[in-house]
Amino acid sequence: MTTLGVNIDHVATLRQARRTTEPDPVTAAALAELGGADGITVHLREDRRHIQERDLLLLRQTVQTHLNLEMAAVPSMVDLALQVKPDYITLVPERREEVTTEGGLDAVAQQDYLTQVVATLQGAGIPVSLFIDAQPAQIKAAAALGAQFIELHTGPYAGASTESLRREQLQILEQACVLAQAQGVRVNAGHGLTYKNVRPVTELPAVEELNIGHSIISRAVFVGLERAVREMKQAIKLD
Ligand code: PXP
Repeated sequence: MTTLGVNIDHVATLRQARRTTEPDPVTAAALAELGGADGITVHLREDRRHIQERDLLLLRQTVQTHLNLEMAAVPSMVDLALQVKPDYITLVPERREEVTTEGGLDAVAQQDYLTQVVATLQGAGIPVSLFIDAQPAQIKAAAALGAQFIELHTGPYAGASTESLRREQLQILEQACVLAQAQGVRVNAGHGLTYKNVRPVTELPAVEELNIGHSIISRAVFVGLERAVREMKQAIKLD
């Protein structure tokens, strides 16, 4: 069964728009869990544009499901992660000027450095996932450097402008899943997934958890977070 990790970054985005105390992502996490979230995901960015350290510390104490920390593979974040000990970590590339994460990590180019980071984190008992593009070389590099999980970047699938391009991207994801399985790496997926496009991704072999943020938080503005999460759980449920 595919599980749902709800990314609550944009609740903090709204709070930071006024640099005030509401809405609180800690409350959001509790409501998401009431709606059926299987996990809570936050991205603590270097520029602290949404989630703050305070949020991460409180979430570590209050999340009842599991906490997935998305972070850049930089020494300051590794230190913080070792203190906070989230349930798993997703390493992502980070560029200051981007609106959201734009592409996967380059596990091929950074293989030596990432090997050290992954060994440090997994050595402390925190499983690591690498957010990568669905390319064979990236999957093989992720496996070679010892990551327990990959998160396949579903952005190209979500952004496909025609049905045939969408099918093509789905096939690329499917082949990536098969390769990851053969390499002994567990698979998550995410980015750009919505109520409308999520279903085929749940039917891919091996995909364990989907990390979804923008679409759920957008819907929550109108229907409330608990209901928005429940509806996404419904959308990903296999009959
Ligand atoms: N996975 C990763 C690695 C991400 O960086 C993001 C965006 O923060 C997501 C999943 C969720 O993407 P979206 O907000 O488009 O659902």
